[in-house]
Amino acid sequence: MKIAVFSAKPYDEQHLNHFNEVGHTLTFFEPHLNHKTAALAADHDVVCCFVNDTLDAPTIEILASLKIRMIAMRCAGFNNVDLVAAEQYGIPVARVPEYSPHAVAEHAVALILDLNRNIHRAFNRVRENDYSLNGLLGFDLYRKTVGVVGTGKIGATFAGIMQGFGCQVIAYDPFPNPQVQAMNIDYVPLEELWRRSDVISLHCPLMPETHHLVNADSIAAMKRGTMLINTSRGALIDTRAVIAGLKSGQIGYLGLDVYEEEADLFFEDFSNHLLQDDVFARLLTFPNVIITGHQAFFTREALDAIARTTMHNINALAEGELSKAHVVKI
Ligand code: NAI
Repeated sequence: MKIAVFSAKPYDEQHLNHFNEVGHTLTFFEPHLNHKTAALAADHDVVCCFVNDTLDAPTIEILASLKIRMIAMRCAGFNNVDLVAAEQYGIPVARVPEYSPHAVAEHAVALILDLNRNIHRAFNRVRENDYSLNGLLGFDLYRKTVGVVGTGKIGATFAGIMQGFGCQVIAYDPFPNPQVQAMNIDYVPLEELWRRSDVISLHCPLMPETHHLVNADSIAAMKRGTMLINTSRGALIDTRAVIAGLKSGQIGYLGLDVYEEEADLFFEDFSNHLLQDDVFARLLTFPNVIITGHQAFFTREALDAIARTTMHNINALAEGELSKAHVVKI
């Protein structure tokens, strides 16, 4: 099979080639896939895409005209794919439902520890020969209440780690996870989670119901000085409302690995360009905000698992056994 890999980075090339045991022909394209770049997929059977490719109806229509037989997402989320259009054109959308919940959960914890103990500021101070502690005061995580929104694979893993710190973990999920219930974690209504939590971490998918789940109203309902962590998808948060919350002190700390408008920003080196996104630029001015560029998944173990499952999905198509692929159902 001929596979057009979009948004390709050197590490994608290395890992996908490593797991290409069948000998498919892989072509690596740096640009994101969208309706302007879809023509690059001509003479291929499969497109392999990532989180910031745009698989909207016009793009999928072009892929269908090029007789693309599968959209193989090399990620878990598929909010950037118009599933209705894909079904209409008969193109199955495969994904990697699970690769390393630990990678993302541990990154969320890294953001919490860094924000709480001001590691980013301390790092800079010590390099400046400044060993003063003013402004670096943290708090014990022990016995603090941590609210987990979305308790699937990543949320459950995160909850377990935070219990290890001695935190009281509470959760919200419309579909409670028995594994989490067995951990003595109480499911509470979302309003109660906002109200009680010292730290809130988002681990639910981006869907119409969860778009701007954190907004001016939910921020007002939170404890003053709450720490908010988002390693899930940027648009779960209304960024402008969060900036207002940071300015008023209602949000005490913000840790982000994802951002609403990240598609034109993350995964690229723009260090020689001027930052044009004023909302993002404002976020960067707060000392109590840490942003990483969608790197929570980025561990050796996760990249291996992503490449292995992506090739498995493509192999299943090649062998005419699509039922063995992880195809997204509408
Ligand atoms: P999962 O499918 O195992 O769990 C998602 C959970 O969210 C489910 O338990 C589901 O019932 C729950 N949920 C659905 N609607 C909800 C709502 N309205 N409110 C609260 N919870 C709701 O997914 P997994 O593997 O745990 O991943 C979670 C999210 O993490 C993904 O959707 C993706 O957006 C994000 N992610 C981010 C990565 C990164 O590098 N930053 C990497 C991988 C995933």
